[in-house]
Amino acid sequence: MDYFHYKNNELYCEETRVADLAAQYGTPLWIYSKRTLLHHLNQIQQAFAAVEPVICYSVKANSNLGILKVMNDAGSSFDVVSGGELYRVKQAGADTSKVVFAGVGKTDEEIRFALENNVLMFNVESEAELDAIANVAQSLGKVGPVALRLNPDIDAKTHAKTTTGKKGNKFGMDIERAEQLAEKVLADKRLSLRGIHMHLGSPILTTEPYAQAVVKAAEVVAKFRARGHDTRWINLGGGFGINYRKQEALPASAYASVIVPTVQKAECRLALEPGRFIVGNSGILVSQVIFTKREGGKLFVIQDAAMNDLVRPAMYDAFHRIWPVNATVPPPEDYEVEIAGCEPTDVVGPICESGDYLAKGRSLPPMQRGDLMCTFSAGAYGMAMSSNYNSRPKACEVLVDGTSHRLVRRRETYEDLVAHEVL
Ligand code: LLP
Repeated sequence: MDYFHYKNNELYCEETRVADLAAQYGTPLWIYSKRTLLHHLNQIQQAFAAVEPVICYSVKANSNLGILKVMNDAGSSFDVVSGGELYRVKQAGADTSKVVFAGVGKTDEEIRFALENNVLMFNVESEAELDAIANVAQSLGKVGPVALRLNPDIDAKTHAKTTTGKKGNKFGMDIERAEQLAEKVLADKRLSLRGIHMHLGSPILTTEPYAQAVVKAAEVVAKFRARGHDTRWINLGGGFGINYRKQEALPASAYASVIVPTVQKAECRLALEPGRFIVGNSGILVSQVIFTKREGGKLFVIQDAAMNDLVRPAMYDAFHRIWPVNATVPPPEDYEVEIAGCEPTDVVGPICESGDYLAKGRSLPPMQRGDLMCTFSAGAYGMAMSSNYNSRPKACEVLVDGTSHRLVRRRETYEDLVAHEVL
């Protein structure tokens, strides 16, 4: 559930009219609903409460400071994958001793920065990384806390570019080597073994992959313990799916029902790294129609948001619901069926690439120059993956809380575009 809804044919974010925000802040415009963010975080906190998890909001999904602050104030911790993300969560006031640091290619500088900030643990993805952490820890007179990221060889059936837990992709270390890796950590006084980590892919709309993964994780923990190692943490990563098309997402309680009992039995602490589940349905992208045209037997709506703003359709063939901000008919429950009064439309941006589209052949009511349209479920991996391609300034971001709203990132200017360059 989210807090974007139509009232009297107009789209609202919580109690705020989206058209008013577009008039005030311009387009393209990212709008986030604080209530939706908190609703989703809270759902996870409650569903997993029995094992007192550390919920590490995955910063990569949306790293805006305003959002990180909302997460921090609501008791979330963070999953970071770079020194830059660690810097951001510090800016947002995070307690870095609950932060997990992931990623296949941590540099010595990043490892040092993380150790200086006493992160909870590194999710370690290679033996070489274990050595690097040990060396940097030694130079700082510290012990490096590590969780072994294991590749459980589970097919989470996500897009090829976002599946991670299958043998042969670049993430983690083969689960068969877990014990040998644990021995290596335990033989090294510069490291401490906190636990194991797995991330299966994203987005995952069934519980089955998690059910399999947690069992495998518990087996590994049992093996470590049998050898006398006190392994405490199971980190199952992120990946919980959201509503992109209709109400296809599972509640957090569904994932909890397959994860919690096994974690309890293993007597472990649980860490989770949800990104999309928290922020995905909490954000929309509002754009304005520049032109419409019919060519080659097709109707094109050319609007001012582009693949530099939201790359997901171009990159993953991702589906995002799109509907006018002022609509005489409410958005359809199901976009697969023919919708009365609608016509197949290509929603495209101004960028000079055929791949620059938000939707293809989408049933939409007639749109005209100047109309506002909304792309839903855009809060995760939207702004976070945006770029300045075609020298387009990045859009601004607004956080709504009931009837109030504030800018959490101003719109970039042409000066910003060249600010780091030298003639
Ligand atoms: N933990 C790890 C180790 C990850 O690699 C990821 C996402 C997450 C947590 C958070 O996953 P989430 O809960 O947000 O699904 N850009 C793609 C998604 C890439 C996901 C990368 N890793 C997209 O737009 O669909």
